[in-house]
Amino acid sequence: MRSLFFETIGSTNRYLKDHHRDLEDMTFVFADQQTAGRGRSGRKWLSEKGKNLTFSFLMKDPLILREHEKLSAVCALSVIEALESFGIKDLMIKWPNDVYASGKKICGILAEGISYEELDCIVCGIGINVNQTKFEGDYLHEPVSMKMILKEDVDVAAVRDGVCSRMIGNIDELKKGRDFFEEISARDYLKGTKVFALIGNERRQVEVLGMTRDLRLQVKDGEEILDLDSGEITFHL
Ligand code: BTN
Repeated sequence: MRSLFFETIGSTNRYLKDHHRDLEDMTFVFADQQTAGRGRSGRKWLSEKGKNLTFSFLMKDPLILREHEKLSAVCALSVIEALESFGIKDLMIKWPNDVYASGKKICGILAEGISYEELDCIVCGIGINVNQTKFEGDYLHEPVSMKMILKEDVDVAAVRDGVCSRMIGNIDELKKGRDFFEEISARDYLKGTKVFALIGNERRQVEVLGMTRDLRLQVKDGEEILDLDSGEITFHL
């Protein structure tokens, strides 16, 4: 594992995507500030300088690339395990890759694949709200931070160490074939809810039944049961 630290950078995901050829597997990039932080579906990821944990890491090991569909959820679980050790409660995974604390978003994950002929590497970016208490802008999902929940300042470096050590440990387990199904499905925020899903080109209300063993989302669409990949669906609760 190698770590690079930046005071200011455009985006840690972008940096790894631009430099992936020259960097080794499990290179981590941390930044106090991102000037062009990116979220899912082309949204911006805004984060006050020095207040939060914003980082990305690069994966090249074929054992992980073949498990890429499980990766976001395993990263989300690693974040949950670390935040629980700081006393944050009621942490759930909003499939495929958000972490919620008591119904509010505390962490977002952006996993991006780089493919030439086949999947060559994955860049996984994590943004955790640590000490920020004011979130301006239009948020699809209301944010919350560790400080807002714990009512005290949190040591960002300690959160970084806790999250990264769990992330590395769980990724090693994933390589060895652990499926994480029990731990992840027990923290399924969407299970039992009705959501609007964009399936193909059609926006339909479906009922979430839960996760499948391979960590896809199982939904009931009328009488039909569908197992969905993250790419096939966008959610509006
Ligand atoms: C989302 O919820 O939409 C995903 C947010 C991902 C944000 C992180 S912050 C570190 C990394 N660099 C980025 O530009 N984005 C990710």
